[in-house]
Amino acid sequence: MCSIAPPPPTGAERADALLERIFSSVLATFDIYAISLGDRLGYYRALQQHGPQNAAGLAVLTGTNQRYTREWLEQQATTGILDVAASAESDDERVYALSPEFWPVLTEAGNPSYGVPMARLATGAAAPFDLLVEAFRSGAGVPYEDYGIDLLEGQGEMNRPQFQHFLGSWVTAMPDVERVLNDASRPARIADIGMGTGWSSIALAKAFPHAIVDGYDLDEASVVAANRNAAAEGVADRVTFHHRDAGDSDLAGKYDLATAFECIHDMWDPVSVLGSMRRLVGPRGTVLVMDERVADQFGAIGDDVERFMYGFSFLHCLPVGMVKRPSAGTGTVMRSSTFKRYATEAGFANVDILPIENDFFNFYRLTP
Ligand SMILES: C[S@@+](CC[C@H](N)C(=O)[O-])C[C@H]1O[C@@H](n2cnc3c(N)ncnc32)[C@H](O)[C@@H]1O
Repeated sequence: MCSIAPPPPTGAERADALLERIFSSVLATFDIYAISLGDRLGYYRALQQHGPQNAAGLAVLTGTNQRYTREWLEQQATTGILDVAASAESDDERVYALSPEFWPVLTEAGNPSYGVPMARLATGAAAPFDLLVEAFRSGAGVPYEDYGIDLLEGQGEMNRPQFQHFLGSWVTAMPDVERVLNDASRPARIADIGMGTGWSSIALAKAFPHAIVDGYDLDEASVVAANRNAAAEGVADRVTFHHRDAGDSDLAGKYDLATAFECIHDMWDPVSVLGSMRRLVGPRGTVLVMDERVADQFGAIGDDVERFMYGFSFLHCLPVGMVKRPSAGTGTVMRSSTFKRYATEAGFANVDILPIENDFFNFYRLTP
């Protein structure tokens, strides 16, 4: 049977398709902002804990304004995230519910299905939009602190379930390192570079109960949040966070393992930071870097992971990496060849990609 290929779309059809794509993207963007707002204001958690509410009830529970709350509830029901539990004569009396099926996605921090951090990360990445426009013109950077709390907490909470559930098993891909970290006769020391809100350091301390972890991060607000998280998780006695530039040549210490989770591509001087990590572990130690798993080379049209990475790159990762000069200007889409070049320039003899299955990350083991 022979089939006839459809004619290629005309220019006008392609323009129409783009217009439709912009319209659906705007709808999706509004969902992202509403989810971030629902999380920041505690709306989802209140609906989970106290059951269905009208606008007045939810406003009282969350200390928010009733009129604004009603608008958010109506938007959420219109877009299919909340259910209308009881209709009413007036908009103010209509009652809304959050279905228990959505709790893991909207209220359960640390659950592998928790989707709020992705929304908050996207909200935060666009927060300093005017500064970004100016940066594109001038070539300057946009400082990390200008991205605010949604970016900071969104980043931390997005990786937290992966660290909590899998970090211990990632280390088992390096049996010699696992043995050192489990050695009860001599507490192993770990330096966790660019630890952000600290969830990787906390997960390491929990997976290896004899280990002592030092986290180093350039962002003061992240260090404050990391200290709070370590105390809440009961590991503050073995986990200490330092407000430092990890690229400083005077960063000193003696560690068995130095880690850097999803941060090397954000750095203006990744070679200096990798050089510090090499110095911190000495000739017998190990460096483990987790960073984006992207295609080996640029390709249009890219897959969803590539599109995801480029989105965060132009909004956030490239601009934060351009704050100081000279800058490597890496961006989120750090291809493995780029990373290997940085590692070689930092003096590492070997760069191995560990056999760990993950859709988003590569795991590089570096040896001096
Ligand atoms: C994308 S966040 C990753 C945070 C954390 N590792 C995670 O996986 O959630 C990048 C982090 O690297 C930190 N950072 C960037 N450059 C740094 C440097 N030179 N020294 C120390 N930390 C740095 C930033 O402050 C930020 O907290």
